Amino acid sequence: MPLLLGLDIGTTGTRALLVDEEGHVVASAVSEYPLYTPQPQWAEQDPADWWRATIEATRAALARAGVGGEAVGGVGLSGQMHGVVLLDEHDEVLRPSIIWCDQRSQAQCDWITERVGAQRLIELTCNPALTGFSAPKLLWIRDNEPRTYERGRKFLLPKDYIRFKLTGEYASEVSDASGTTLFDVRRRRWSEEVLNALGVERDLLPEVYESPVVSGRVSASAAKATGLAPGTPVVGGGGDQAAGAVGNGVVESGILSSTIGSSGVLFAFTNEPVLDPKGRMQSFCHAVPGKWHVMGVTQGAGLSLRWFRDNFGEAEMLVSNLTGIDPYVLLDREAEQAPVGSEGLLFLPYLMGERAPHLDPDAKGVFFGITARHTRLHMVRAIFEGVAYSLRDSLEIIRGEMAIAVEQVRASGGGGRSALWRQIQADVFNTEMVTINVSEGPAYGVALLAGVGTGVWGSVEEACRATIEVVQHIRPIPENVAVYERFYGIYRALYPALKPQYDAVTAAVAATV
Ligand code: XUL
Repeated sequence: MPLLLGLDIGTTGTRALLVDEEGHVVASAVSEYPLYTPQPQWAEQDPADWWRATIEATRAALARAGVGGEAVGGVGLSGQMHGVVLLDEHDEVLRPSIIWCDQRSQAQCDWITERVGAQRLIELTCNPALTGFSAPKLLWIRDNEPRTYERGRKFLLPKDYIRFKLTGEYASEVSDASGTTLFDVRRRRWSEEVLNALGVERDLLPEVYESPVVSGRVSASAAKATGLAPGTPVVGGGGDQAAGAVGNGVVESGILSSTIGSSGVLFAFTNEPVLDPKGRMQSFCHAVPGKWHVMGVTQGAGLSLRWFRDNFGEAEMLVSNLTGIDPYVLLDREAEQAPVGSEGLLFLPYLMGERAPHLDPDAKGVFFGITARHTRLHMVRAIFEGVAYSLRDSLEIIRGEMAIAVEQVRASGGGGRSALWRQIQADVFNTEMVTINVSEGPAYGVALLAGVGTGVWGSVEEACRATIEVVQHIRPIPENVAVYERFYGIYRALYPALKPQYDAVTAAVAATV
């Protein structure tokens, strides 16, 4: 029975996952690489690292499964979205890739918005121009490194660079292309109007496929490098969020996922493109052909807890070293000991600015309402609760203003593994949360897409039905819902009250350094 290979080119490493045709995980392997921050707000990676890691992880997964490359019937690619890889006429990478979390391109965002018109840009690309997206980064290169830009012959997204290395094809797919600001998300093709307005050549861009469609085949040289068999089909795949949603079975109306990784993402399936006129929710093509999705991104979700662990978690680290218990599990146990609502201690998780619902790089984290009664336990619990309040902000826009049906929220990501955080989300959202039988994320989603593209399943929906099932229901507890309702109102009032002071702090810090 042929296996399916899902490759996820993440921010910390590449993951290779082998899945059989019944959806069982057979083997996986990860190979890591560095992130470079040569200046404040900059974030870059070396595409050569992604390729090296892809080779290592693929070879390791095949070895762990005890199979040769000929056992793999199809490959799916997922990865961090929005990064820019620029190739010259000899297909050499021209500069390090500027990746998704890089914030250097606000001036280019402003210029794009002015050139296309704020309203028109949202009509065409379904989103405003954000520093996180690709076109602002590409134009930053044009503005600041014109000789590099002039030598550019192809712009590729991170996972699509790996596709190029695997197959020799310049190709992308609709979900990742949606995050470039160059894509007509409604019509699922490059936007001539945006390209013309920005002066970006169509030739610079790759072909775009639907996610389960075969986009190329493993070349002889890539086969030699990776251990895969030459000719193995490689499907379009998906950006990490859309691919993760397939891996969570978020492929029909009413089902959402809440993924707490470094960032927190509330992801909703939609049958049509549904726009947030204020641009707080991102509206992208889904990896399900002819379908779309909406997502709200909390920049600092798991990242907030990690910040706490790294700076105040010496005790947990020590205990962890002695007992082998994960420091996050210890933090979880501590949070459990504080009362629901943390006795009025509120945390705003804006440690990396915020995307949804406040498009604001200057927003900052806050502990609010500290009294002499509060302890460390309250602080940890307040972080769990603050992240849930922030995700609820997105949920409110999705189910309230955008009128998207919400029946069930699937818990996902590292945070989704915490029973406490799942219950807090159910209570704060006042909605049933569920867990599912697989927690392999984007790599699993694209393995399923590879199965659809190679005929194992007839559609993405069928693949999800065949492999994914709900295993646990977490229902809101009415007493907790009432407590959270009260504190959520206060949480919401804090950002507007603090906004002038956020800006003042940014200016004061800039004047001091
Ligand atoms: C999505 C986004 C992140 C990156 C990195 O818009 O910025 O999910 O793809 O994971």
